[in-house]
Amino acid sequence: MTKVDVLLGLQWGDEGKGKIVDVLTPNYDVIARFQGGPNAGHTLEFNGMKHVLHIIPSGIFHKEKINVIGNGVIIEPCIFKQEIESLVAKGADPEKNLYISKKAHLILPSHRMLDAANEQAKGNRKIGSTLKGIGPTYTDKIARAGLRVGDILAPDFRERYELLKCQHMQTAHTLNFDLANFRLDGLTLDEYEAKWMASLDLLKRFQLINSEYFINQCLQEDKKVLAEGAQAAMLDIDFGTYPFVTSSSCVAAGVCSGLGVAPSKVGRIFGIAKAYCTRVGAGPFPTELFDETGKLLCENGHEYGSTTGRPRRCGWIDLPALRYACMLDGVTDLIITKPDVMNDFDEIKMCTAYEIEGKVTNELPFEYNTLEIHPQYTTYKGWKQSLAGITKYEDLPQIMKDYILSLEEQVGVHISAVSTSPDRKDVLFR
Ligand code: GDP
Ligand code: IMO
Ligand code: MG
Repeated sequence: MTKVDVLLGLQWGDEGKGKIVDVLTPNYDVIARFQGGPNAGHTLEFNGMKHVLHIIPSGIFHKEKINVIGNGVIIEPCIFKQEIESLVAKGADPEKNLYISKKAHLILPSHRMLDAANEQAKGNRKIGSTLKGIGPTYTDKIARAGLRVGDILAPDFRERYELLKCQHMQTAHTLNFDLANFRLDGLTLDEYEAKWMASLDLLKRFQLINSEYFINQCLQEDKKVLAEGAQAAMLDIDFGTYPFVTSSSCVAAGVCSGLGVAPSKVGRIFGIAKAYCTRVGAGPFPTELFDETGKLLCENGHEYGSTTGRPRRCGWIDLPALRYACMLDGVTDLIITKPDVMNDFDEIKMCTAYEIEGKVTNELPFEYNTLEIHPQYTTYKGWKQSLAGITKYEDLPQIMKDYILSLEEQVGVHISAVSTSPDRKDVLFR
């Protein structure tokens, strides 16, 4: 029997998970998403083409591989339809190699509007949600009120939909939110609802399965399964910078409940981290840079949200946070992305510890959002050269390899690969 390998983001998302999953897919039979929803934006680049995936696993362009949307994922049918259409336009054939869990919850139009209502009610404490309805949909799941993909086949689906929508309208009312006049993506609730209902027809054409049986059967047959995480440890509902987090379990533990695999069936854990840090939306970010260097990271790294287009906040790599993520996830293989963004830098910094109230610590305090955290930096010399055309790890500049080695020592996890461009071909395994 094989085990499920897992690939996770270790910072605040957008580490390059999609690219690395695409690169690792040839080694696997099945790629499965286990949490999150259309808040994710996973970018793949190959043969001069760029593609951003939201709910569909990043193995989808490999036609002979099965892709699974697991029970822990939440799905918005209109966004799903758009994704399918743009995949088909690019030559993929998702109706053949995409299976969907019947237990995955549905994002209703009113969930998305409630997301906006919640953010409005929070005023200047808003989270900076992607407004995809993530919080309200997971709230309904936990409150045992949600609708699931399998429910679209039931004769009373419309009735149950209307009931849930009514509840959402009442909630919006208590938040003083004018749902009747609100437009999302230019649509009123009625217009959006009509589009949403029509999109269900496409969803019904897919293989809707009990994915926990499917995944476990694959393991039984010695097939290789890779679970693809969305978001990242620092956005995890339990361990992230709460309340500035998403509403799902983005750490390794989420794989068990999000796919129905037992902890004993989890194998290697690939942790993905950028050579610096970014964050979209609100919340603490101790190493954030507000200077020219921050701007350079943003510009060189094209740090604009794959889902919302918002500029990402940028800063130096944060080792206390990275060690924390590795601890929570049990990372066995660390993969570093985007060092090429700093090719021109004279100096590169790593935050190796925090100073909080005069004390140096490596522990992320409970009061992370409110305490003044002073990052302690170690400065490294930049390698000052392009990495383009380098195809072997050994051929990287010595200064860069020394930097990678130091990073590995300080995090305490083996760095097994370095990514040096957005393209599929540029991952150097060690
Ligand atoms: P994900 O959400 O973790 O899949 O990451 P995103 O796709 O949201 O953001 C990562 C961005 O960095 C995308 O635009 C990728 O194409 C790009 N990218 C990934 N790896 C590298 C790399 O090694 N170097 C550079 N320059 N860009 C990269
Ligand atoms: P990938 O998978 C980066 C952030 C949002 C916001 C907070 C809550 O591409 O790495 P939500 O819509 O989930 O309620 O938003 O989480 N966020 C992400 N940031 N990458 C993501 O996904 C994200 N998904 C959510 O910006 O701050
Ligand atoms: Mg992303």
